[in-house]
Amino acid sequence: MNITRAEFLMSNSDVTKCPKPNKPEYAFIGRSNVGKSSLINMITDHKNLAKISGKPGKTQLINHFLINSDWYLVDLPGYGFAKVAKSTRQRFSKLIFNYIETRENLINLFVLIDSRHEPQSKDSEFMEWLGVNGIPFTIIFTKADKLTKRKLSENINTYEQEMLKKWEEMPPYFISSASTGQGKDEILSFIEETNKT
Ligand code: GTP
Ligand code: MG
Repeated sequence: MNITRAEFLMSNSDVTKCPKPNKPEYAFIGRSNVGKSSLINMITDHKNLAKISGKPGKTQLINHFLINSDWYLVDLPGYGFAKVAKSTRQRFSKLIFNYIETRENLINLFVLIDSRHEPQSKDSEFMEWLGVNGIPFTIIFTKADKLTKRKLSENINTYEQEMLKKWEEMPPYFISSASTGQGKDEILSFIEETNKT
């Protein structure tokens, strides 16, 4: 798929005010600073579409983008960010869970995992919740450029072993880098294949 148009539509703190669920939707989620906004800019070829920050917690709202006038792309706030007040964290979680449970047009949730890190309970608990609630998701291992090939495959192997303690099989996954563009074609092909309405 070629992305010819990518438009920012709106930011929301209220799920009921999101665009009408009349087009297929793909959302990106993960811990703060995992690289959600960077990945969105990379796959859409738009440098400044989603706001990037070195400071975790930058994305605090549900951000809708319209791609090729055809499908919605959503940048969600990061979960598990420890450095904000507990009340803010709870507000974020509520917003995220509300969003996921409400959006009937959500085709797939991309759960981003920093490929450098050991498996984290926040992520596995979140994915278990998705599983229990029947929400289709795909993992994206981000920042692959920060590791050697060998270390990257070691880490993914470890991740897979950890997942297999709870899951019958490893959920589908992609490997990405916003710096090198790795993963772009695969992710866009996946979206193209699954978004036939
Ligand atoms: P929040 O909105 O705060 O939850 O963060 P986010 O998940 O949207 O992360 P963001 O895209 O803002 O990136 C966080 C930091 O990681 C920035 O300094 C990015 O430049 C850096 N970064 C993101 N993706 C990559 C990548 O693939 N490779 C490298 N080397 N750096 C990356
Ligand atoms: Mg962000």
